[in-house]
Amino acid sequence: MARMGFVLRSLIAALCLWLAAAATPPAAAQQPSSVNPTAQSVKEQELLKELQRIQGRSSLPDARTRVLEQPAGREWRQFHQVTLRWIGAIVILGMLAVLLLFYLIRGMVRIEAGRSGRTVVRFNAFERFVHWMTATCFIVLALSGLNVTFGKELLTPLIGPEAFAGWAQWAKYAHNYLSFPFTLGVVLMFLLWIAWNFPSGTDVRWIREGGGIVGNGHPPARRFNAGQKMIYWVVVLGGGAAAVTGYLLMFPFYATDVTGMQTAQMVHGIVGMLFIAIMLAHIYIGTIGMQGAFEAMGKGEVDVNWARQHHSLWLDNEIRKGRVGGGSVAPAE
Ligand code: HEM
Repeated sequence: MARMGFVLRSLIAALCLWLAAAATPPAAAQQPSSVNPTAQSVKEQELLKELQRIQGRSSLPDARTRVLEQPAGREWRQFHQVTLRWIGAIVILGMLAVLLLFYLIRGMVRIEAGRSGRTVVRFNAFERFVHWMTATCFIVLALSGLNVTFGKELLTPLIGPEAFAGWAQWAKYAHNYLSFPFTLGVVLMFLLWIAWNFPSGTDVRWIREGGGIVGNGHPPARRFNAGQKMIYWVVVLGGGAAAVTGYLLMFPFYATDVTGMQTAQMVHGIVGMLFIAIMLAHIYIGTIGMQGAFEAMGKGEVDVNWARQHHSLWLDNEIRKGRVGGGSVAPAE
């Protein structure tokens, strides 16, 4: 019995030794090989040169996950990190420089005849609500969008990576959620003001005479002059393009593939930068650029002499309809 127990213990010990030996790799396999035949092929740049893309096998059902790098991706990265920054810096800083120069040369466009003391309603409460809702959203969208393109480089050295990460996260939430009221605002503006924004013959004369802003003429205009019509269409078309491409990015791969995502991001970025630059000109003319203009969107009423100088045909119409308060007013022309 004792002898059988000894044999059994010996057998078990031998089996354990054999298993341990099998699980241990040979000593040579643990040493780094001095010659690695695959060394060149695992270098990213070599692979890209040969194959133009890095891809492999994946157990995930989505075939797109198999591609790690491809030429379009690298071109997009170049756009995102270099080209878009140049476009943004040039159009936005360029516009600020032009506006500053214009202000220094021309100054504020004054109401030439002085204030009359009588006013005419220009925008009703709903129109002003829509305008300011859209404008507020736009300003937050613009700042949080610029943060995506320039924030890391500009702010991290000032506030540090931790604070930047916190701010960038909130900025992104704001960018995502405010896109909805902004889109609604653009749609409402489109519907509210479309009737006054078709091009007409008066626009040609208005443009030829510099809109009374460049030069000293006072070309007649209806409710919206050619400059305002351009702003209107920039808002409708630019806002529309920014919204469509923005939603493609917000809900990735639902409606498009990776190439479509890259195109959407490029269009969104360029439209965003141009939009911001153009709206800076609009904000300038609505505030320090033109005396009496802000009241139109502030109180909703403008001075009759302002209306005569900038929108004479519209004022005539309002007078005919008896909508001008504070006594009788002579037609504009
Ligand atoms: C602080 C920013 C802004 C100011 C001070 C401002 C000011 C004004 C003023 C005073 C008007 C009336 C002009 C008139 O009576 O003839 C106006 C009109 C308008 N605004 Fe703004 N605005 C601002 C931002 C925006 C933004 C961000 C958008 C769109 C994204 C926008 C879209 C429009 C449109 C479509 C009109 C009608 C067409 C025109 O007058 O150009 N505004 N704005």
